[in-house]
Amino acid sequence: MADIRKHLLIVDDEAALRSAIAERLSDHGYAVEQAGSGEEALERLADFAFDILISDLRLPGINGRDVLDSALERYPDIIAIVITGYGTVKDAVDAIKHGAADFITKPFQFDALLHVVRSAVEQRRLKSENAYLRSQLEDRYRIDGLVGRSRVMRDLFGLLETVAATSSTVMITGETGTGKELAARAIHHNSPRRANRFVALNCSAIPETLLEAELFGHVRGAFTGAIGARQGRVEQAHKGTLFLDEVGTMSPSLQAKLLRVLQEREFERVGDSHTVKIDVRVIAATHSDLGRMVAEGSFREDLFYRLNVLPVQLPPLRARREDIPLLVGHFLQRLASEGGRSGVTVSQEAIRLLMGYRWPGNVRQLENTVERALAFSQGRSILDVGDLPAEIQNQAGPAEGADTALPEDGIDFERYIEGIELSLIKRSLERTHGNKRQAARLLNLKRTTLIEKLKRLEPHQAAD
Ligand SMILES: Nc1ncnc2c1ncn2[C@@H]1O[C@H](COP(=O)(O)OP(=O)(O)OP(=O)(O)O)[C@@H](O)[C@H]1O
Ligand SMILES: [Mg+2]
Repeated sequence: MADIRKHLLIVDDEAALRSAIAERLSDHGYAVEQAGSGEEALERLADFAFDILISDLRLPGINGRDVLDSALERYPDIIAIVITGYGTVKDAVDAIKHGAADFITKPFQFDALLHVVRSAVEQRRLKSENAYLRSQLEDRYRIDGLVGRSRVMRDLFGLLETVAATSSTVMITGETGTGKELAARAIHHNSPRRANRFVALNCSAIPETLLEAELFGHVRGAFTGAIGARQGRVEQAHKGTLFLDEVGTMSPSLQAKLLRVLQEREFERVGDSHTVKIDVRVIAATHSDLGRMVAEGSFREDLFYRLNVLPVQLPPLRARREDIPLLVGHFLQRLASEGGRSGVTVSQEAIRLLMGYRWPGNVRQLENTVERALAFSQGRSILDVGDLPAEIQNQAGPAEGADTALPEDGIDFERYIEGIELSLIKRSLERTHGNKRQAARLLNLKRTTLIEKLKRLEPHQAAD
């Protein structure tokens, strides 16, 4: 069994006091070692990672402060408690500033020392527990509303942070509903430009004839209907970030003007010959294949390379199914905070169906599905299979299209099916490195069912 006692080193040159304390601390369950000098303390610390260090500040030779400093340097998490003489509180305060957890002044009662030790340990436990929870919930699994715990998403969060620190143009690609706009906002909010505006423009939502004026602005009378002068989106994003969604739909002449913004950092308003200088960071997004459009000649190659400086790719939801339960919880929580019901959960079977579905509309579709299910559930606190849309409920039909050609002289039906079962089980075990629980989840089986099948199909492998 692992040794769960706290290992403690006590350093004091007064041998009688030191061994008395050591003995009593041992009685209270600590694994105690002693050092009679600073030199000896450093030796002990060099080859053992103590949890707690209690050291007198005043020692002959290497003093307590040096012991403290080198212990903290080597073990930043060590809980260090210093003992000071009467009238030297200033030294104690100084030690705390340098990382000691607490101090106690001589002479002291043993119980007072025990109290100091215990509360320092408790403090540390709370601190690391909080830090752990924070890193679990905030840092690792989300960045500005983007939620995900899968490997790909965690890698993506890291990439977004790196990208945010730069001023380079970013190109975000991904299927519809994968969170491209959310990622663009996350980059802006983590960038040095966060104090300025994030301006979004969906190039496919505006008629070609109006897009130029929308982007670059216009002067009064520039075209029919241009009653006053107006600032364009590019100018609004000065010193901030301009998000151009669906850049693939831009006309060749606008592509040329956008290229100039990226290369020369300048443009003209519609109907104006005055050149405007601009400082914007451009993030472009598209769900079309720009590389192919370049090959076909419908998108400028030079613009493509200018936009594609830092490519960021958002994975489809079906490629990271393990994020689905987390996302469902996230959406339920958000709906509750928007005035929906709180404390609603989802049955395991419904979660399984959600995890098995192919999600052509990705996270947006999942979000809508959760919202719809909540509306359908009429006040029940558990959303169930019946609250899901038909296409999700009925997905798990027989695997049609598998290789089911029937040979001339027929087959042994039972053995054929068993062969398929065994091959799927083996494949899922391979993918999960032999973890039966995870393998069963991949196959939508109970773990016990998987083990039973394995036992029947390949008896010598089923040992658990
Ligand atoms: N990882 C995620 N975590 C939480 N919510 C997400 C995530 N990804 C997407 N969403 C949500 O899904 C919806 C669609 O996201 P977004 O608009 O960013 O997608 P998109 O890739 O820009 O889609 P489209 O190509 O259709 O414009 C939004 O409501 C967004 O909040
Ligand atoms: Mg979008």
